[in-house]
Amino acid sequence: MTPRVGIHDLAFATAHQVLDLAVLAEHSGVDVGKYYVGIGQSEMSVPCADEDIVTMGAGAAAQILDRLRERDGTTDGIRTLLFATESGIDQSKSAGVFVHSLLGMGENCRVVELKQACYSATAALQFALGIVARDPREQVLVIAADIARYALDSSGEPTQGAAAVAFLVTADPALVEIEPVTGLHTDDIADFWRPNYLSTALVDGKYSLAAYLRSLEGAWDEYRARGGVGFEKIDRFCYHQPFTKMAVKAHDRLVAIAGADLDKAGRLAQIEASLRMNRRTGNSYTASIYVGLLSLLEHDEADLAGRRIGFFSYGSGSVSEFFTGVVQPGYRSLLRTEADARALADRTPIGYDRYRALHERVDATTGGDDRTPAETTGPFRFAGVSDHVRRYERTGR
Ligand code: HMG
Repeated sequence: MTPRVGIHDLAFATAHQVLDLAVLAEHSGVDVGKYYVGIGQSEMSVPCADEDIVTMGAGAAAQILDRLRERDGTTDGIRTLLFATESGIDQSKSAGVFVHSLLGMGENCRVVELKQACYSATAALQFALGIVARDPREQVLVIAADIARYALDSSGEPTQGAAAVAFLVTADPALVEIEPVTGLHTDDIADFWRPNYLSTALVDGKYSLAAYLRSLEGAWDEYRARGGVGFEKIDRFCYHQPFTKMAVKAHDRLVAIAGADLDKAGRLAQIEASLRMNRRTGNSYTASIYVGLLSLLEHDEADLAGRRIGFFSYGSGSVSEFFTGVVQPGYRSLLRTEADARALADRTPIGYDRYRALHERVDATTGGDDRTPAETTGPFRFAGVSDHVRRYERTGR
């Protein structure tokens, strides 16, 4: 018999600076309502010079490993680490290997990086479920971390952001059991992409919105055709959130396709709690849907135990998947709600000039030896490059 498999623990980290979108609106001469209401974003996390996907990913994963060490005295049960990102720091080596080392994990572990725009964390989840279903003793650590970067003064600029999640996939999961039926959709399109020679993404904004919605329809249709449950059997929904208004648009579309009879308030009630954290981090690409899941579990006032969540994961280019999971009894005792609220509240607010200087600093990276200024207030930092090797260290915080 196939074991019950799913997400056993889920942790969050973000960058340690924040830009209020009112600051960007003032610089751009745009009514802030366009950002706060029109796209549904109030802030974006901005990495310090010594923060990247490794430091954020390690910050999230350390919380899971600390809990495992307390329970089992070891983290050696994790024999696979999958690092999902489209903000890769090396063309060859997985960012996960740096995290593996920073966190002192056992050497009997396979570590690999996955990429397909914002979809790759879901690919990692599905691969992890397969590993655990084959051998229920396996524990798979998935890390999803991204820094969303568009050109300065472009229309994508207010949809930047940064965050990471880590989740542990096991048999008999304590948070969310993932159900087996999925719906998939792939289409070779140029809605959003980042060529190797650019540090910022290119995007056809309006087209990307339409492509996202078309892909939702394709994935949902296949999900239903393969025996997935009807819309009315799903209690909450969690979408990829490049900006939170996109999830609102997507849910409106799904309600229409499914022919459900729900007014605006009813539709919003099914997704509202999942939007809270992304509204403040900004787009975190592949992490964003799982930041949404954490936000839902932490902020939905209803007891979600036994309730079914529908997930729609979309990555430009494009690949998407619709699937479901059931929240497990006792899930609330595993959440780190206060710590996650602090991670957002304790970010250092920055002004426009500092934001711009940091944005330009990334573009100016030359490949030569470089000591990175010590700025982050987080537990791990990118110390710089010497002999073309990236160096990371613990900060002691
Ligand atoms: P834009 O063209 O500057 O904005 O860029 P707009 O004119 O469409 O306005 C946005 C909304 O604000 C509109 O609402 C306006 O009416 C409203 P809507 O009609 O859409 O409901 N608005 C106002 N509301 C209140 N008060 C006001 C006001 N003014 C206007 N004063 C766009 C918007 C999203 C296109 C741009 O930011 C962009 O290109 N972003 C990046 C692309 C993106 O996020 N695409 C999403 C789908 S693709 C995806 O999700 C994948 C991705 O995450 C990458 C990956 O997979 O790796 C991006």
